[in-house]
Amino acid sequence: MAKKINVGTLISGGGTNLQAIIDACKSNLIDANILFTGSDNPGVKGLERAQKADIDTFVVDYAGIITSCKKGINDADLPSDFNLEEILSKQKLVENSASKEQLVFFLKTRAIAERKLLDIILAYDMDLLVLAGFMRVLTPYFIDRINTEPGIYKIMNIHPALLPSFPGTDGYGDTFRYGCKIGGCTVHYIDYGEDTGPIIGQKAFEIEDNDTLEDVKKKGLVKEWELFPQCIQKFADSQNKQSR
Ligand code: GAR
Repeated sequence: MAKKINVGTLISGGGTNLQAIIDACKSNLIDANILFTGSDNPGVKGLERAQKADIDTFVVDYAGIITSCKKGINDADLPSDFNLEEILSKQKLVENSASKEQLVFFLKTRAIAERKLLDIILAYDMDLLVLAGFMRVLTPYFIDRINTEPGIYKIMNIHPALLPSFPGTDGYGDTFRYGCKIGGCTVHYIDYGEDTGPIIGQKAFEIEDNDTLEDVKKKGLVKEWELFPQCIQKFADSQNKQSR
């Protein structure tokens, strides 16, 4: 029998992808267990879904952290292992930042939030971290503390567009407004850029002339619920092959 991989999940909202993964785990469609569900947003439906499935949950309130950082960041607030120059040299999230000051504020604020995530996540024996509708970018500070083996990616994300087209926060909206006749979703690994990491799987659907943006989102989500568990299984298969 294939060994099950231990998966951590991060969400920001409704969690329909999380539900698809929970269901796939429960019905043994995939060789995976969910260890925890974390959210950057308190009170979202996805957390309820996890609790109903007896999965540990936690919240790191990004909005609260950002508000308090706006009042000023002291060096003592930063993680003790935070190295600004190193993160600046690695990050590819902000290419043409309006100012270095804004970029530094962004990276410091995120590192404070990411340290809180890491303090919880790293206590688990996790093989893979899955971003199931997590709407925050992750900086090299976080990524390097999860991807600790050189060349091995351990963070998987779902994006609502056929990458490399339409990266960013509104994949279906951008696809629809461009007038595309094919839309789709992509599961990929996280690297230092925004939605630029290696692609694991994609699914496409047709956009009819009279489809609304809502129709596009509905068609896309149905594809996402199929694709995400399949990509997690791909990862589980590769782990099982390595341990043979
Ligand atoms: C999904 O459409 C997912 O592709 C998207 O958020 C939605 C979450 O829905 N993710 C991103 O845009 C990541 N940048 P869900 O909470 O119902 O799973």
